[in-house]
Amino acid sequence: MGLRVLLTGGAGYIGSHTCVALAEAGHDPVILDTFENARADVPDRLARIIGRPVAVERADVRDPAALARVFAAHRFDAVVHFAAKKAVGESVREPLDYAAVNVGGLITLLQTAKAAGVFRVVFSSSAVVYAESEVMPLTEAAPTGFASPYAWSKLACEQLMTQVAASDPRWAFGVLRYFNPAGAHPSGLIGEDPQGIPNNLMPYIAKVATGELPELRVFGGDYPTPDGTGVRDYIHVMDLAEGHVKSLEAIMGTGAGHTLNLGTGQGYSVFDMLGSYARACGRNLPHVMAPRRPGDLAAYWSDPGRAGEVLGFRATRGLDEMCASSWAWMRSQTGQG
Ligand SMILES: NC(=O)c1ccc[n+]([C@@H]2O[C@H](COP(=O)([O-])OP(=O)(O)OC[C@H]3O[C@@H](n4cnc5c(N)ncnc54)[C@H](O)[C@@H]3O)[C@@H](O)[C@H]2O)c1
Repeated sequence: MGLRVLLTGGAGYIGSHTCVALAEAGHDPVILDTFENARADVPDRLARIIGRPVAVERADVRDPAALARVFAAHRFDAVVHFAAKKAVGESVREPLDYAAVNVGGLITLLQTAKAAGVFRVVFSSSAVVYAESEVMPLTEAAPTGFASPYAWSKLACEQLMTQVAASDPRWAFGVLRYFNPAGAHPSGLIGEDPQGIPNNLMPYIAKVATGELPELRVFGGDYPTPDGTGVRDYIHVMDLAEGHVKSLEAIMGTGAGHTLNLGTGQGYSVFDMLGSYARACGRNLPHVMAPRRPGDLAAYWSDPGRAGEVLGFRATRGLDEMCASSWAWMRSQTGQG
């Protein structure tokens, strides 16, 4: 029998892909989203991929009355909590907003879940909770810290869940520290859809590939990395989505929580991604070199070993698959071939 799962922020980038992975694994996802950072047609597109409609509740995770109504209307077995604000730069300008939505939203959600008797929660955390380190790869035991209000909000949520879990053995949290999600569902029907100038590398390159942006500015070509550009651990969003299914099934099955990296353990440079995307779209993509940005690290990547041990999770898709699926999504948006 499948699980009935509330996906807060389920119409967003990672939530929509996880919705597909959950449905494919035989579960019954219900999306709760304000749609402030999601396209209105995501539920229709999900229905086309999954082959049946997906239940959608338009509500804010900070609204206790709306949440109580949604929990009463559906008898959830568990929650996957994606809904959050996620732009590091914006968080520096609007720290109160980030605390209110990311930390306040979690508090309201957990209070409502507890009142409804739901004690299993998978949570979107991030590699931003790790302190700057020379030691790679990053294991879950690496020191934590925060360099922005966004990072603080994720760390505060993790620490809050640790205390909540300690207060009552019925709680089990699957805390997933994502590295750099990239790519799209192979159908080209859903993908990352940032408004304006993207903050992340792949959506930026994707907009250079469509011609919407003229060129990629590569910040730093003199890092101590194989080609001088910054190195990150990109993980295909469908691998990430499948990691959520495994995390959810583990906490449901064992009643024990976990905090795990979701990454590939493999670092790719800016030039690796530019080359792979150029192969995907069939043309060279213009770039210019620019100075390093303050605060950017030369390289970081995950040790994905514990997710393998605890969940049997291993990412299987490589950079070329991430770029090809992103390009299929961009092409379907713009009608380019
Ligand atoms: N994308 C990344 O690179 C990345 C990396 C690490 C962690 N994360 C975390 O993963 C989660 C999902 O990220 P994403 O990339 O899919 O972002 P996204 O913006 O695409 O998805 C978030 C969704 O939440 C919704 N939302 C925002 N505020 C809400 C609220 N108050 N109530 C209800 N819905 C609300 C938005 O409309 C959106 O659909 C976030 O918690 C983010 O912090 C993302």
